[in-house]
Amino acid sequence: MSDPLDFTGRTVLVVGGTSGIGNGIAHGFRERGAAVHVTGTRASPGDYAAEEGSDLAGLTFHSLDVSDREAVAGFGLPDALDVVVLCQGTVRYRREEFEREGWDAVMTVNLDSLMDCARAVRPKLAEGGGSLIIVSSVGAYHAMIGNPAYAASKAAAVSLVGSLAEAWAGEGIRVNGIAPGLVPTKLTKVTTDNAQRAAGAVARIPAGRMGTPEDMAGAALFLASPLADYVVGQTIRVDGGMTLS
Ligand SMILES: NC(=O)c1ccc[n+]([C@@H]2O[C@H](COP(=O)([O-])OP(=O)(O)OC[C@H]3O[C@@H](n4cnc5c(N)ncnc54)[C@H](OP(=O)(O)O)[C@@H]3O)[C@@H](O)[C@H]2O)c1
Repeated sequence: MSDPLDFTGRTVLVVGGTSGIGNGIAHGFRERGAAVHVTGTRASPGDYAAEEGSDLAGLTFHSLDVSDREAVAGFGLPDALDVVVLCQGTVRYRREEFEREGWDAVMTVNLDSLMDCARAVRPKLAEGGGSLIIVSSVGAYHAMIGNPAYAASKAAAVSLVGSLAEAWAGEGIRVNGIAPGLVPTKLTKVTTDNAQRAAGAVARIPAGRMGTPEDMAGAALFLASPLADYVVGQTIRVDGGMTLS
């Protein structure tokens, strides 16, 4: 029997795959044989050399700012595309999301760009019966006192997973999502680099630890594999049980 988690001969695109969770997901697919393309905001792979949580070895890099709608629409996709993971994300701290500029910046990247990217990859995914995975957050399911745009954008991302899944299942595209809990990355440094805040956060996680990009890769591999052929429109919480109560 063939290994359902062997992605040899498959092509994967991870938008926001230069860092953190997306980078871990990209390597998860690469380690299982896929040709993996990643995008990030910087001009060249060298710009990530000194960055912690960013390893571009064995991945094909493309520069793409998803807030540039023309750039997303005109993005040169690989000839074939089997799996697309939308992992781009941003946040604004110090109550900036309460102001118009901060709100717009977060909604543009965390929500509008998901639809722009999904629209752009749909024809290629439909060609081969592909899988689209949207990375949201457990922030979708509760209030975030300092980050109204982040929480709203992630709730909307969960909603989008359902709508796109229903709309595109007939074309052979399976759309699902992952809602990570707390994973140390450059996005969450403000919490995870602060010993007191990190300990407080871990105390609320039944699994007793923060998540890793590899934990998220496990869910992405499952969702993209034939093991999940009948899983449609679901967002899996991968949070160590953090949101159980
Ligand atoms: N870390 C967590 O605890 C956690 C929890 C729940 C959900 N998430 C979600 O997981 C996803 C990945 O986040 P992360 O924690 O891994 O953070 P990260 O390390 O900062 O990664 C974010 C990725 O998004 C890319 N990106 C940001 N703005 C972009 C833009 N305008 N255009 C194109 N790409 C852009 C970044 O590119 P550059 O590398 O060029 O900056 C990077 O590849 C996000 O959607 C985040 O909301 C994270």
